[in-house]
Amino acid sequence: MRKKIIAGNWKMNKTPKEALELVKILKDKVDTDKSDVVFCVPFVDIIPVAEALKDTNIAVGAQNMCFEDSGAYTGEISADMLLDIGVKYVIIGHSERRQYFNETDKNVNKKVLKAIEKGLTPIVCVGETLEQREKCVTVDFVRIQVKSALKDVTAEQAGNIVIAYEPIWAIGTGVTATSEQAEEVCSAIRKVIAEIYDLDTADKIRIQYGGSVNGSNAGELFGMSDIDGGLVGGASLKEDFINIVNYQE
Ligand code: 13P
Repeated sequence: MRKKIIAGNWKMNKTPKEALELVKILKDKVDTDKSDVVFCVPFVDIIPVAEALKDTNIAVGAQNMCFEDSGAYTGEISADMLLDIGVKYVIIGHSERRQYFNETDKNVNKKVLKAIEKGLTPIVCVGETLEQREKCVTVDFVRIQVKSALKDVTAEQAGNIVIAYEPIWAIGTGVTATSEQAEEVCSAIRKVIAEIYDLDTADKIRIQYGGSVNGSNAGELFGMSDIDGGLVGGASLKEDFINIVNYQE
């Protein structure tokens, strides 16, 4: 039985001071028994947030990292830096990074390999545009994204990563995929994992849904058999995140 994983992606929101105010509201109210809970916060918030969460089971995640170990990469943050300040998870290949910062499938793969090598759990994001959905190429496209992201990743390593299916048309729009739409693609992702590796790995890997998740739709989405939790943007910045984590099916 896969344990659910519910992660907040704060994106570029909250100064360290504001971050601490939000953590104070959320930290004692989210149920970490039923699901693994992660706050993926901006880099500068990581140290204070990790300190504020140290007596809880909530993990801290980053939203990006460099695929190199160290050196002349101005503006980048390495896996070792993240590990040193208590980070456990890192979002890789979010559609906003692909769209605004030219992140490619190749870079995503390099980052995934580096994160795994260093012992960080990648949350690998995939998902189609509205145009692709309308052309009925969603599953084909997402399969390619998954295969590229996991190139040279072993079965054992793949079983421990997290994939987040985030249809771009549902991100920040208030238009959530229906639970059937989300399940269809999450199940196709599990199928491609079984094809690349084996059924055991496909059964182990956790697949999240992301895109306008809120306290009212979380229960239905997370109740689907191939959806193992969520990657939550806007609603992770509000008290509604408590309703999402403490969802009822
Ligand atoms: P929203 O929940 O704001 O739609 O964002 C989803 C997302 O991009 C999480 O990574």
